[in-house]
Amino acid sequence: MAETVIRMENVTKVYKIGQSEVHALRGITFSVKQGEFVSIMGPSGSGKSTCMNMIGCLDRPSGGIVEINGTETAKMTEKELASLRNRTIGFVFQQYHLLPGMTVLENVMLPLRYQGIEKPERVRLAKEVLERVEMENRLSHRPSELSGGQKQRVAIARAMVTKPHIILADEPTGALDSKTGLQVLNLFREINSAGTTIVIVTHDGGIGASANRCIRIFDGNIQSDEEQIPVMPFYAMAEENA
Ligand SMILES: Nc1ncnc2c1ncn2[C@@H]1O[C@H](COP(=O)(O)OP(=O)(O)O)[C@@H](O)[C@H]1O
Ligand SMILES: [Mg+2]
Repeated sequence: MAETVIRMENVTKVYKIGQSEVHALRGITFSVKQGEFVSIMGPSGSGKSTCMNMIGCLDRPSGGIVEINGTETAKMTEKELASLRNRTIGFVFQQYHLLPGMTVLENVMLPLRYQGIEKPERVRLAKEVLERVEMENRLSHRPSELSGGQKQRVAIARAMVTKPHIILADEPTGALDSKTGLQVLNLFREINSAGTTIVIVTHDGGIGASANRCIRIFDGNIQSDEEQIPVMPFYAMAEENA
C-alpha cells in the first residue's frame, strides 16, 4: 500500500478584506498517496489555487489539518516549512515565475543553492534535469528569449532539480496553446511514471481527464473525487493521426 503524502482534513480558508470575508475553502477533506496523478478542476474563483497554496504550505489554513508526509504543518516552525517547500515539494505556475535576470541554467540551479550544494554539483544536477526536459541546448538563454512552452519546461526542470516527492502545478498549461500544453502534460506523465506524486490544477477538461483521479471543487467545497481511467486528450489523437 502506497503511503499517504498529502492529507487535508476539513481545511477552511477565510480571507478578510476590511469588513468583508471571503470563504475560499469551506471544509475540504482528501488524501493523496505516493505516486498518484491527481487533477483538481473547478470554475474560476472556486478555491483551486487556495487549495494548492495550503498543500504547498505557501499559506496557512484558517481551520483544519494539513499533513505532508505524515507531519502536521501547523506544528512546524517557519524554518521547517521552508525546508519542506524546498526539498519535498516542487512548484510549477501558469506564469512560469522564472527570474528574468538569470540564465536558464542559473534559474534551475537556484533551488539547490538553498541546500548548500557546491557549485560544480549544482551545475551537474541542473544540466541533468534540463536534458530530461530537452532544454540542454538553451543553457545560456534568458527566459525572455524562450517560447512559452520552453519557459514552462525550464520551470518544470527547476521544480524537479531537488528531486521532490510531490510536484504541485497550478494551471501549468493555462498560458500555452493546446499542442504545447500537451507536450507539457506528457512531461508530467513521464515524471509521474518515475514515481513523483503530481497534483495539477486545470480547467482544461482534456488535461483533467488525463489524470488518474479528478477532484472537482465548487465554491470552496469538494463536489466529487473520483478515480478515472485516463483518456488521451483529443488533440493528442489529432497529432497521432497527422
Ligand atoms: N489573497 C486573497 N485575498 C482575498 N481573497 C482572495 C485571495 N486569494 C483568493 N481570494 C478569493 O478566494 C476565492 C478563491 O480564489 P482562488 O483560490 O484563487 O480560486 P481559483 O484558483 O479556483 O480561481 C475567490 O473568491 C478569490 O477572489
Ligand atoms: Mg487559480
